[in-house]
Order: sequence, then C-alpha cells, then structure tokens
Amino acid sequence: MKVERMAVIGSGTMGHGIAQAAIFAGYEVRLYDVAREMLDKALGIIKGNIDKRFVEKGKISREEGDRIFNRLAAVTDLEKAAGDADFVIEAVPENLELKKKIFAQLDKACPGHTILASNTSVLPVTAIAGATERKSRCIGTHFFNPAAVMKLVEVVLPVGVAEETVETTLAVCRKMGKTPVRAKDIPGFIVNRLLAGLYMEAAQMVLEGAATAEEIDTAMKLGAGHPMGPCELADFGGFDVIQMATDAIFDYTHKESDRLNILYRKMLEAGRLGRKNGKGFYDYLPDGTKKPFKIF
Ligand SMILES: NC(=O)c1ccc[n+]([C@@H]2O[C@H](COP(=O)([O-])OP(=O)(O)OC[C@H]3O[C@@H](n4cnc5c(N)ncnc54)[C@H](O)[C@@H]3O)[C@@H](O)[C@H]2O)c1
Repeated sequence: MKVERMAVIGSGTMGHGIAQAAIFAGYEVRLYDVAREMLDKALGIIKGNIDKRFVEKGKISREEGDRIFNRLAAVTDLEKAAGDADFVIEAVPENLELKKKIFAQLDKACPGHTILASNTSVLPVTAIAGATERKSRCIGTHFFNPAAVMKLVEVVLPVGVAEETVETTLAVCRKMGKTPVRAKDIPGFIVNRLLAGLYMEAAQMVLEGAATAEEIDTAMKLGAGHPMGPCELADFGGFDVIQMATDAIFDYTHKESDRLNILYRKMLEAGRLGRKNGKGFYDYLPDGTKKPFKIF
C-alpha cells in the first residue's frame, strides 16, 4: 500500500520525534494535539533540530531544511489532521481509555484504507484496535526515545492484524530510517520485557548492598558493553513508566522475579521519578552532573 500522508496524534516527547523522522523521510505530516502550546513547542524543537543538527553542520542546505520543515503542519482539529492520512501514529499519554477513544475517533475520521498505529509502550494493542471497525488495519509502532534518533521500532502485532498492514508498517518504518522488528502483542514486547528483568535485579542488588548503583552501572558499561548502566537507564525511562510496564508484565507471567522491586515502590512513594524530576538512583544537579543518592 502506498503511504504519502501521515498524521501524528500527540506532539509531546514521542510525537514530535516521530513527526521529525517522518518529514525527513519525505512524508507530508499533520501533527495534532489538544494543547496548542505543545504543538508550538514541538514545531520549535523540530525547526531547531533541522537548523542546528543539519543545516548549520552543512549536512543539508538551508533550502532543503525549509523544504523538509514545510512538509509539517500543526493542527488542532483531529478530522483535519487525519481525514486524508494514509498512516496515523498515535502518541498520546499512556492511558488505555484515552487511546481507545482516540482510535474510535480516528476510525470515523479516516478513509477506509488508513492504517492506525499506536506508540504504546505497554498497553494491549489488541484492546486499542478493538475500539475500531478496522481491527485488521491497526498495529503498534513502538518507537524509542528520542524517536528522531533511535533506530529501533518494535512493530507490534495485535490479534487479527492483516499481513498487508504489517508489511506496509515495516516499509514505513524503514523509509523513516528505522530498523523495525516484529513483536507479538504480549506485555513488554521485546525490549521492555528484557529490560524489566535487568531493572529488577539491579534494584535488588542495591537493596541487598551487593553493590551500589554507581558500581552496577560502571560494571555493566565496561563489562557488558552497555552504553548506559541499568540504574542510569531506569532513571532515564522513569520509575512511573517502569512500574506500569512491570505490573503489565507480571500480570502476564506471574513470575515472582517480574514483580516490581520494593526499591522502585519506595522511590515513587518518596516522589523520586528518575531523570524527569532530577531524582532517581542519582540526584541530577543543575550544572549537568549527577551524584548517587543513598536510598536506605
Ligand atoms: N517518553 C518515552 O520515553 C516513550 C518511549 C516509547 C513510547 N512512549 C509512549 O508514547 C506515548 C506518548 O508518550 P510521550 O512521552 O510522548 O507523552 P507526552 O506526555 O510527552 O506527550 C503526550 C502528548 O499528547 C497530548 N494529548 C493529551 N491528550 C490528547 C488527546 N486527547 N488528543 C491529542 N493529544 C493529546 C498532550 O498534550 C501531549 O502533548 C505513550 O503511549 C508512551 O507510553 C513513550
């Protein structure tokens, strides 16, 4: 199936990165958000990225930069955003009822051939697709943060998805410069399911005093070749997000080792969310440095 026009629903952290990757790939993109200020912020970030990372570094000409940016339009009307889109990627907050509502609206607003993709990290794509009359044309596209840069997209296959939908989605991801990997619609998909195990064991080691967060991070970077240690990565992902993912995975596997470690629960109770509020395994200081936080 030929895809020319895309809509991205939600212009936050993931939405603006996905929109940026899509305009660079040559797609005409309408970016929709309920909040005008989020759209303005997204446009500013994308324009800034094009200028600083591409034009000023001589990777593309100013004219090419303008041409790329002009493929993007910000809209606050869902029907205008998606009414003639071939492919829609939804990136609104991680809330099942909200995503189902948006998918039901998109189902009505979009032509019959349009593929509806959700960027959900942990919610069941099958349930989101269930809110539509086009279940075979719904799919998951799990981009990673920052979406304009990170190469992986987990293409998540809900029950009843058509092979043509999968093939078109894989082609769209490749055109966006990504490497797509198929994953079944089972909690955690691939990356989060494996990371959950790493996060839980790292927290358990800190709790037992087997090693500090800093020692664990240094060991995994230098010994296992990980670019970030598990505690740094958990801080980056955010403990609220880890809680949601781990609960979904545990609900599926019922393995004791998949249960959210008490350390994350305590940090959340203490208002520590990770990098997003500067408080995680580390305290992130205004000068850009970080220092380990003694939890117990
Ligand atoms: N942030 C990450 O690291 C990350 C990584 C992978 C996947 N995800 C997933 O991507 C999705 C979006 O996450 P995010 O981090 O970009 O969230 P975000 O909070 O940064 O952005 C969400 C955006 O959606 C908008 N929004 C809220 N309600 C809306 C509605 N009804 N219609 C349209 N827009 C609406 C908000 O105004 C906001 O701009 C979530 O499903 C999340 O789980 C996030």
